[in-house]
Amino acid sequence: MAPTVHGLKLSALLAICQVIDKALHLESALDGVLGILSEQLSMQRATVSLYDPETGHLSINASYGLTREEKQRGVYRLDEGVTGRIFQTGEPYFVPDIDKEPLFLDKTGSRKIRRGMISFIGVPIVLHGEPIGVLNVDRLFEDEIAFEEDVDFLKVVATLIAQFISLNEKIMEREAVIKRENTSLKYQISKNTKGPYIVGQSTPMVEVQRQIEKVSPTRATVLLLGESGVGKTLIARIIHELSDRQGHPFIKVNCASIPANLLESELFGHEKGAFTGATGTRPGRFEEADKGTLFLDEIGELPMALQAKLLRVIQDKELERLGSNRTRHIDVRILAATNRDLGDLVEHGQFRLDLYYRLNVFPIRVPSLRERKEDITGLLNHFLSEVAENYGRHIHFTPTALDALIRYDWPGNVREMQNLIERLVIMSDSERVSLEFLKSYLAPGQTTVIHEVLHANGEPGHCTSLKEVERNEVMAALERSGWVQYKAAEALGLSARQMGYRVKRYGLESMIAEGHARLRRIR
Ligand SMILES: Nc1ncnc2c1ncn2[C@@H]1O[C@H](COP(=O)(O)OP(=O)(O)OP(=O)(O)O)[C@@H](O)[C@H]1O
Ligand SMILES: [Mg+2]
Repeated sequence: MAPTVHGLKLSALLAICQVIDKALHLESALDGVLGILSEQLSMQRATVSLYDPETGHLSINASYGLTREEKQRGVYRLDEGVTGRIFQTGEPYFVPDIDKEPLFLDKTGSRKIRRGMISFIGVPIVLHGEPIGVLNVDRLFEDEIAFEEDVDFLKVVATLIAQFISLNEKIMEREAVIKRENTSLKYQISKNTKGPYIVGQSTPMVEVQRQIEKVSPTRATVLLLGESGVGKTLIARIIHELSDRQGHPFIKVNCASIPANLLESELFGHEKGAFTGATGTRPGRFEEADKGTLFLDEIGELPMALQAKLLRVIQDKELERLGSNRTRHIDVRILAATNRDLGDLVEHGQFRLDLYYRLNVFPIRVPSLRERKEDITGLLNHFLSEVAENYGRHIHFTPTALDALIRYDWPGNVREMQNLIERLVIMSDSERVSLEFLKSYLAPGQTTVIHEVLHANGEPGHCTSLKEVERNEVMAALERSGWVQYKAAEALGLSARQMGYRVKRYGLESMIAEGHARLRRIR
């Protein structure tokens, strides 16, 4: 016995429920639903168009019987055509013969051949009383079609679809939360194991770490900004380790350290004979980084010609090796870093604006060490324990030395600190590093720091040469001027009060009295 129309529809509903139950992936589930409609109920072509709040348009999310191109063409404004009308009114719409309906735009172009034999039914997809999309179906003409019944049936299907979309949204939201939590946990774990991690609890660094945790699990391009030695390369590495690409290559290219004429083949590879000296075939760094991450350091130094090429790889995910016309597809996440002001380079015509926009999707500015002095002690301890492990030596700083290190400007940032500690470990005979010893290892022009420290700590026992030099100068001037304070002050260009302060500070009162006595005896 042939199944009744009712029987067919029930079995179609059952099949639809099973598809929805199985698929977590929105589009494939919708495709499945439309496939069932078409196969079991001889509904030709079916589409689900959903409202996209970002563009304000309705576009086809799933379809049956359309090619990819047809599908892409199907974007409707809300005031456009039957689909727009169904969405706006929230009412079903059916057309017994679409040939006679002026509202038909046939935007997808898929009805050209069959026009004249097709009827159309569209119903809104409604969630919580609001239309969120439209389900459209074309049905071939048959002798008698019970339109009302079809509309009712499609309304039920649309309700199922709406429920499914709502469920799917909730799952996606939850997944995003879990993904973020997972990254955060991974990061916490890598902090306690051997993985790379960031030392620093200052407010700006906590913010940087928050950004890292957010952006790592995505495939967004990240632009790391900051002075030399602040930790940009370290952060690029951490982003890779925290992403799904961990386990695939992390490739670093320094755009400044490779001569411009070699950089192109370094990045994109070359075929044998592509240029003089290209004796063999070589894949570029992009290909090496496939499925992983490519870190372009000092991106500001990338020559203009290569900027255009890089832009294309980022946009189309395709490249050709030098001397080859075979297009290769690559899947690489790009991280870039610079200590230059890219916006400024753009203004001076040295950097492409379009590439700048592409790279600047997610900028992270890493603050210099002098902008986060709270981190200095933590970092010092970190590097001290690192060298203790590597060299088996435990060193520590005297309070004044530590004070100087905190006041110090760190022009070379964290890298300078790391190098400093290594050098001290090698050079210092004592476990205790004093300010005296430290001085010569700090960048020149930093004597103010040492002055400040001396001034703040003013321990007479803790003599340094600077203090000594001044004391000797003052003593010599006093001697020359017959131990007359105001004359010595004049000779040194000091006021009487400044001189008095120094005499006290260096404990010279008794020496002056002795000098006077000596002079009296001679006379
Ligand atoms: N917050 C930090 N915690 C621990 N180590 C750090 C930190 N910041 C930087 N380092 C270490 O300091 C050194 C210098 O950092 P890195 O090479 O990442 O700096 P950079 O910003 O890339 O410098 P450049 O611009 O010169 O390339 C590295 O050995 C890195 O591991
Ligand atoms: Mg670096």
